[in-house]
Amino acid sequence: METILVTGGAGFIGSHVCVELVQAGFRVVVIDNFVNSTPESLERVETITGERLHWMDVDMMNLESLDEVFQTFSIDAVIHLAGLKAVGESVVDPLRYYLHNLTPLLHLCECMQKHHVHRLVFSSSATVYGPPQQVPILETHPIKTENPYGRTKHMSEQILEDFQRAYYPMKIVILRYFNPIGAHSSGLIGENPVGVPMNIMPYLTEVAVGKRPVLHIFGDDYPTRDGTCIRDFVHITDLAKGHVKGVEATDRMKSGVSVYNLGTGKGTTVKELLHTFERVTQKTIPYWITVRRPGDIAVSYADVQKAEEELGWKATKEIEDMCLDAWKWQRLNPAGYIKK
Ligand SMILES: NC(=O)c1ccc[n+]([C@@H]2O[C@H](COP(=O)([O-])OP(=O)(O)OC[C@H]3O[C@@H](n4cnc5c(N)ncnc54)[C@H](O)[C@@H]3O)[C@@H](O)[C@H]2O)c1
Repeated sequence: METILVTGGAGFIGSHVCVELVQAGFRVVVIDNFVNSTPESLERVETITGERLHWMDVDMMNLESLDEVFQTFSIDAVIHLAGLKAVGESVVDPLRYYLHNLTPLLHLCECMQKHHVHRLVFSSSATVYGPPQQVPILETHPIKTENPYGRTKHMSEQILEDFQRAYYPMKIVILRYFNPIGAHSSGLIGENPVGVPMNIMPYLTEVAVGKRPVLHIFGDDYPTRDGTCIRDFVHITDLAKGHVKGVEATDRMKSGVSVYNLGTGKGTTVKELLHTFERVTQKTIPYWITVRRPGDIAVSYADVQKAEEELGWKATKEIEDMCLDAWKWQRLNPAGYIKK
C-alpha cells in the first residue's frame, strides 16, 4: 500500500482528495496548520471512508516540523495543496502571500530531496492564464498573472521546473484547476468559507439557507449569451479524483514536469448556474446585478483533452449534481463545521 502525504488536507479540496485517495486504496497522511480549516473535516473524512487518517498539526513554514513528518512516515508521493487562496487578500497583503505560498513549497522540495521522495502533485490554478486569447484554454496558453495570488502559483510552477531540472529524479504533475464547486454527495464535507464567501457557489447556498439576503451578480453586460461571465465549473469530487490520477501518473513518468487542466471543458454562465440551482433545489434566489468586479474575465473554460488522454481522467458530474451536492452540504451544515 502506498503512502501519500497530503498537505493542506483539511481544506475544501484536500478533504475531498483524502476521501478519494482512501477509497482508491492509498494510505493517507495529512498535515495542516488549520489556518483556514478545522480537524473536524478530517474526522468526517474518516466517517465517510471508515478508515483512520494519520494527521498532524504542522505548519509548513517550519522546516524542522516538516522534516519530522518525512522522518516519521515512509512517504511514496506528496500532494501539495497547502496555501492561501484569496485573490483580494493577496492584493492587499502581497508579502504575506509570497511568504506563505512560496516558503512551504521550498521547504517541501528540500525535504523531498533529502528523504528521496520523488513524486509530487502540485495544485495550481487556471488563474495563471489571465484573460484567455482563445477558448477552450490549452495548457500551452501563454501565462499572464494579474494578482499576487496568481503570481505565487506561477512562481511555484517555475520553482518546480527549476528544481526538477536540477534534481533529475523528480516526477511532478501540476494541476491547473478551473472552478471547483459542489461537495461530497454524503453532505458531510464541503466548502467552509470564513466570513463573506468570495466564490459564487457558497454565496448562493448561503442566500438559499437564509444567511444572506441576496446574491450579487457582478455585471450582466459581458459579451456572452446572457451577459454574465462564463466559467468552467467542475464538481469537487471529479477534481479530487483527478488528484488520484495525478499521483498514479507520477508513478508511470520517467522524470519531468507535466501540466494538466482540470475542468469539464464546458462553459456555464453565472445566470445558468443560478437558474439550475433554483430548478434542482426548488428554491428562489433573489439576486441583484451590480457593477463588474475589477479583474474578472468574460469567458474561461478548459481544454481537457490532455488530462483525458494522459491521465485517463474526465469529469463526469453535471452542473445539476454540483448544485444539489452544494445545497445538501449547506442544508445539513448551515453553520459549516461546528468544532473549531
Ligand atoms: N478552491 C479553488 O477554487 C482553487 C482554485 C485553484 C487553486 N486552488 C488551490 O488549491 C489549494 C487548496 O485550496 P482549497 O480551496 O482547498 O483551500 P483551503 O483554504 O480550504 O485549503 C488549504 C489548506 O491549507 C492549509 N494551510 C495553509 N497554509 C498552511 C501552512 N503553512 N502549513 C500547513 N497548512 C497550511 C489551510 O489550513 C487549509 O486547510 C490551494 O493551494 C489553492 O490555492 C484552489
